[in-house]
Amino acid sequence: MKYLVTGYGGQLGYDIVRELKKRNVSDSDIFPVDIKEMDITDRDSVMNKVKEINPDVIFHNAAWTNVDGAEDTAELCEKVNYLGTKNMVDAASEVGAKIVYISTDYVFDGTKDGVYEINDSVNPLSVYGKTKYMGEEAVRSYANHFIVRISWVFGINGKNFIRTMLKLSETRNELNVVADQVGSPTYTVDLAKLLVDMVATEKYGTYHANNEGFCSWAEFAKYIFDSSNINMAVHPIPTSDYPQKATRPLNSKLSKKSLDENGFDRLPSWQSAVDRYKEELINENGEEAKILIKAGGIK
Ligand SMILES: NC(=O)c1ccc[n+]([C@@H]2O[C@H](COP(=O)([O-])OP(=O)(O)OC[C@H]3O[C@@H](n4cnc5c(N)ncnc54)[C@H](OP(=O)(O)O)[C@@H]3O)[C@@H](O)[C@H]2O)c1
Repeated sequence: MKYLVTGYGGQLGYDIVRELKKRNVSDSDIFPVDIKEMDITDRDSVMNKVKEINPDVIFHNAAWTNVDGAEDTAELCEKVNYLGTKNMVDAASEVGAKIVYISTDYVFDGTKDGVYEINDSVNPLSVYGKTKYMGEEAVRSYANHFIVRISWVFGINGKNFIRTMLKLSETRNELNVVADQVGSPTYTVDLAKLLVDMVATEKYGTYHANNEGFCSWAEFAKYIFDSSNINMAVHPIPTSDYPQKATRPLNSKLSKKSLDENGFDRLPSWQSAVDRYKEELINENGEEAKILIKAGGIK
């Protein structure tokens, strides 16, 4: 089996490649690419590269992920998230590969009372959410697809909320954090395992997959600090007190019924994911490791 992984330079693509290697997939069967090797908006480049590799599976992670920036550069964002994805789908169809497309909770408007099921109507509030949904629709036109909606991502190969919170703790001892947006974090190590399991099946369709349990950003932050023994007062604030260019859904709770119905294991709890991620940060021995070790919250 040959695997093509787009967005290798980002958080999820990096961990999918690591997961494939952990499962003893030979290096010669893994094709990690990022914009340098294959710009997904360049149709000829995509077609040529995919035909040359002739993969059995495409993990399509590459995307325009600057959610606030997208509000000012809608055309560019659409080019990457919709046209780029359409190129990937057409190429997958040309070689008969399975395609996994990573989507987002931002396809919903967050007004539902309760958890979002996969078939609930979408109503994206941001350019990013709209273009990711356009990408979903392009992927749905091809039978052999998995669409996996995730949220609040963190992984070792990129910037994320946990890293930001740890950095802020160097200079601050109190923080205002949004408490009325509720959802679930997603650890790329846990998600990568599920995605590699998924592509071994033909259980095509749309899924929601993030770590188990719900929290607000303020609760997420509080857990990061408390579990690290970092003294930080987290003041819960409403979204209206933290204006951002792109509007986020207040309710991002995703139902995992589709995973259960298809016999896939749910991801571990988000607290366990944060704990294991901090161990990874310590092992990486970068800036955050110093902060964690100094706080003494990790043995
Ligand atoms: N991060 C989240 O909280 C979140 C939440 C829900 C869903 N998702 C989705 O999950 C997926 C993975 O997210 P992530 O956090 O791993 O993203 P990420 O770290 O931002 O990585 C995305 C990668 O895509 C690459 N890329 C951008 N434009 C490209 C182009 N035209 N051609 C080829 N590659 C291009 C980026 O390269 P450069 O760095 O060089 O631009 C980057 O390496 C994305 O599809 C995202 O939409 C993410």
